[in-house]
Amino acid sequence: MATSLRGQDILCVEQFTQDEITLIMETTARFESALQAGRRLTNMIGKVLATVFYEPSTRTRLSFESAMLRLGGQVISVADAASTSSAAKGETLFDTGKMIESYCDVAVIRHPVVGSAQALAEGASVPVINGGDGAGQHPTQALLDLYAIRKEKGRVEGLTIALAGDLKNGRTAHSLSTLLANFGAHFYFVAPHALAMPGEITARLRERRVEIMETTDLAQAVAASDVLYMTRIQKERFADLAEYERLKGSFIVDRTLVQAAKPGLMIMHPLPRVDEIAKEVDVYPGAAYFRQAACGVPVRMALLALVAGQEKLHRTRPKRTAQDTRRIKRAR
Ligand code: NCD
Repeated sequence: MATSLRGQDILCVEQFTQDEITLIMETTARFESALQAGRRLTNMIGKVLATVFYEPSTRTRLSFESAMLRLGGQVISVADAASTSSAAKGETLFDTGKMIESYCDVAVIRHPVVGSAQALAEGASVPVINGGDGAGQHPTQALLDLYAIRKEKGRVEGLTIALAGDLKNGRTAHSLSTLLANFGAHFYFVAPHALAMPGEITARLRERRVEIMETTDLAQAVAASDVLYMTRIQKERFADLAEYERLKGSFIVDRTLVQAAKPGLMIMHPLPRVDEIAKEVDVYPGAAYFRQAACGVPVRMALLALVAGQEKLHRTRPKRTAQDTRRIKRAR
C-alpha cells in the first residue's frame, strides 16, 4: 500500500518511517510552490482545525492557523486554555479529546506536561498533532527544521550540526536530533553541564551509531560545524529561578563568534530568542532563523492535508474580473 498519513496522530518524531518523512517533505514542496505561485488552495474546504494551547505560542499557533486558512479550511481555538478552558475546572485531556472530536476534524495541542498530546489523542478519534508537550517533543518544528536545512544546504547527509543552549529542557532539540539521525548527520551537543541533552536521547542516538561530541565550548563547535541550531534557556521549566539566572546568557552568538565560524555556517533558532543571538548577527547571510520560521506554513499545510487524506492539490482558478476580461480583449 502506498504511504499515507491519513487519520494518524503526529505525536513524536520516532513514529515516522523514512517513506513518511519523504512524503511530508515532497508534499511541503508542492504546497510551497503553489503558495509562491499565488494559488488559492481548497484542500481543506469544509474542515475545521482546533488549536488548543495551554502554553504561550506565536509561531506554532499562527502558522498552523495560517496553514489551515490557506488550505480553505476554518479554525477554532482556545488560546489560553489553561485558564479559559474547562481544564481550569479539572477536566482531563482524555475528556477534552472526547469532546473536541465533534467540534473539529483535526486538533493541535500545546501543553506544559510531557505526554499530554498522547493523552488528548487517546480521547479523540480525530487526528491530534503535538505542538509541543513540555520538555518532551515538538515534532512539527523538527520537520520544518529539516525542510529548512534541506532548502539551504541541499542535504543533511554528512553535515555537522551543533545544537546549543538548553538541551535538557528544549523539546525542539530533542525532536530535531532524533529526526536528523535518520539522515546521517553528525552532532555537537553544546550545553552547560546542568542543561546537557538527556542521557536517554544521547544513548539512543549512539546505539544507532550517530556521532556525537558533547562540549561546553561553543566557539570550538561552531568552528567545526555546518549548521548551528541555537536554543533559548527554557526559563519556564526551572523550579529554581536563581538557577535560571545563573545559566541564562551561558552562550551568546555574536559577530566575533560568527567571524570565526566555518564559512557558510547556517544559523538556526526555533525562536523566540532572548539574548542568545545578538541582533548584529541578523545581517549575516547565513542567519536563517526567520527564513526557517517561514517554512512553518507549508510544512504545516502538508501535515494538515496529509492527516486529513487531502494532500492532492486542489486549486481554484482566481476569478476573472471585468477588468481582466477587458485587458485580455485589448491584448488580442
Ligand atoms: C519553541 C517551543 O515552543 O518549543 N518555539 C517554537 O515553537 N518555535 C522554542 C522555545 O520556546 O524556546
